[in-house]
Amino acid sequence: MAIKTILTEPNKLLRQISKSVEKVGKEEQRLMDDMLETMYSANGIGLAAIQIGIPKRIIVMDISKDENKKEPRYFVNPVIKNKDKLKSTYEEGCLSVPNQFAEIDRPKNCEVEYLDYSGEKKLLKAEGLLATCIQHEMDHLEGILFIDYLSKLKKSMIIKKLSKNKSNRIVV
Ligand code: NI
Repeated sequence: MAIKTILTEPNKLLRQISKSVEKVGKEEQRLMDDMLETMYSANGIGLAAIQIGIPKRIIVMDISKDENKKEPRYFVNPVIKNKDKLKSTYEEGCLSVPNQFAEIDRPKNCEVEYLDYSGEKKLLKAEGLLATCIQHEMDHLEGILFIDYLSKLKKSMIIKKLSKNKSNRIVV
């Protein structure tokens, strides 16, 4: 396993639409292992492949609160089958939008069809944090970030802040 660099906004790659995976093989499993390790090391609860620059429809997630009881989840080619009309609100952040948070409304429940780590077809009924997290990650596959749901002004302020941080960054 290897820890990869997480891309941050603004970055054109994050706006790319990811491609479906034809089959879950060794290469995809290695990618999922790397993504999970990268996510854990950044203290995130979800990560999409495009966040490490790979435009494949793959997501890893772990929303368990207990450090000692990890519950990794893997979603390949996820598709939302049903969405609730009811919304729930969480204060969201994103590893690709560092240190920025905003309240976002999303459908409270959803049903997701996907392939798991072994390439088996699964259907998951998700609610609460899990449903929100899946929807946030699936947005990444379409090149959408949570800040896209904010007003133009708020969004541009955040991007400006992030760009400024970037120009101050040096690698020596
Ligand atoms: Ni994110």
